[in-house]
Amino acid sequence: MVNPRFDFIRERAGYLPEQDRYLFAAPPPQYRFNVIGTGMNGQEHIKVTMLEGRATVHGVYDPNPRSIEAAKRIHAHFSPTDELVVYRSLAKAIHDPAVDGLIISTPNHTHLEVVKEAVKSGKHILLEKPMATTIADAYTILKLARDYPAVFQVGLQYRYKAVYAEAIHEALVRRSIGNIKTINLYEHRLPFLDKVNQWNKFSRYSGGTLVEKCCHYFDLMNLFAQSRPVRVYATGSMAVNFTDFEYNGQPADILDSAFVTITYQNGVRAGFNLCMFAPMFHEELVLCGDEGRLKAVENIDFLPATRPANSLEIVCGEKRPARITTPCYPVWIEQSGHSGSTYYEHISFVDSIQGKPTNAATATEGFWSIVVAVAAEQSVKTGQVVEIADLLPENPDAL
Ligand SMILES: NC(=O)c1ccc[n+]([C@@H]2O[C@H](COP(=O)([O-])OP(=O)(O)OC[C@H]3O[C@@H](n4cnc5c(N)ncnc54)[C@H](O)[C@@H]3O)[C@@H](O)[C@H]2O)c1
Repeated sequence: MVNPRFDFIRERAGYLPEQDRYLFAAPPPQYRFNVIGTGMNGQEHIKVTMLEGRATVHGVYDPNPRSIEAAKRIHAHFSPTDELVVYRSLAKAIHDPAVDGLIISTPNHTHLEVVKEAVKSGKHILLEKPMATTIADAYTILKLARDYPAVFQVGLQYRYKAVYAEAIHEALVRRSIGNIKTINLYEHRLPFLDKVNQWNKFSRYSGGTLVEKCCHYFDLMNLFAQSRPVRVYATGSMAVNFTDFEYNGQPADILDSAFVTITYQNGVRAGFNLCMFAPMFHEELVLCGDEGRLKAVENIDFLPATRPANSLEIVCGEKRPARITTPCYPVWIEQSGHSGSTYYEHISFVDSIQGKPTNAATATEGFWSIVVAVAAEQSVKTGQVVEIADLLPENPDAL
């Protein structure tokens, strides 16, 4: 038997002597990762690294003592006998020779400085999205990543959500709806959560809402369009959230709602609708092709009414069978964070380390998600259409 996975029941097998474990035997981890930044998302990376199991978390670095305490608790849950190394400096965490990979999950405005040090190590790197808060910084990271001798993966893991993974397969591999012509995506969700130093309430730290949050969706749109964006127009406002929020005397300055339209080089047109004062998490993708229509929905509304959280429908008229399905992962994977997408992102990270092909987001894809996001932020501010070529540091064909 190859790689039997019974993780959902392994916890109940703790009473078994080692020699009696066959299906429940956990092979020893082959890689050690350090997590830089152990806030909400860094903790998810610790959990998912340990769940996935081919790697373990060796150590952490974070200047906030409470983030370190939380990291220790999660690590101890999965590995009660191994002590988590807590580094005193970023450089020590990055350059520890005991470690194979680095997971960077610090606030957005710190990514560039952390990456500059991290690439000196030659270790495998998983850098959280958004790659950076500006196109200039994202471009610097892109150049550092281009000839990097190890894995350099960007944390745009929504492509692994069950509904999007299936949509990608249907639309791009099976070509179930023919040539894609239009893309619509919307995200309706709760306001931004509290963060350490409330960095996500300020555009100068996060890049702005359309960079911080929506780079995920621009990545998906770029992927489905299979083309480069040429023009962006957006409107948006701070309609409801954080209108009276101040931190250290500074008022929040982030959008809570926006409409963004994107035109791609190949003629595909895309629209994105954001609302962050909805009492739920709801994402909806609609792709229209010349042979059919695909709709993917992920809905978490905290209501007792029974309906699937995930759905995918493909309707092709008289051309071929229609399908209405509910793509999903095992519950324990979906519950490990971001509907299971972080778990599959980690599978890809380790697979890439092992030289296997994956469809994890590259630095180039991360860069293009930032380009659309920054263009949209700029369009909201100026009220003008933004030509992507005007924002780029070099000929787009070379990027
Ligand atoms: N891929 C996703 O779906 C997803 C989801 C959430 C957050 N994120 C990204 O993860 C990153 C962290 O977000 P979060 O929600 O965990 O924020 P957070 O505020 O909860 O945690 C950030 C942590 O980084 C620490 N930190 C700050 N500067 C540091 C530095 N120079 N070195 C080491 N640690 C430092 C802070 O003390 C804090 O503990 C952000 O880039 C965010 O956009 C991605």
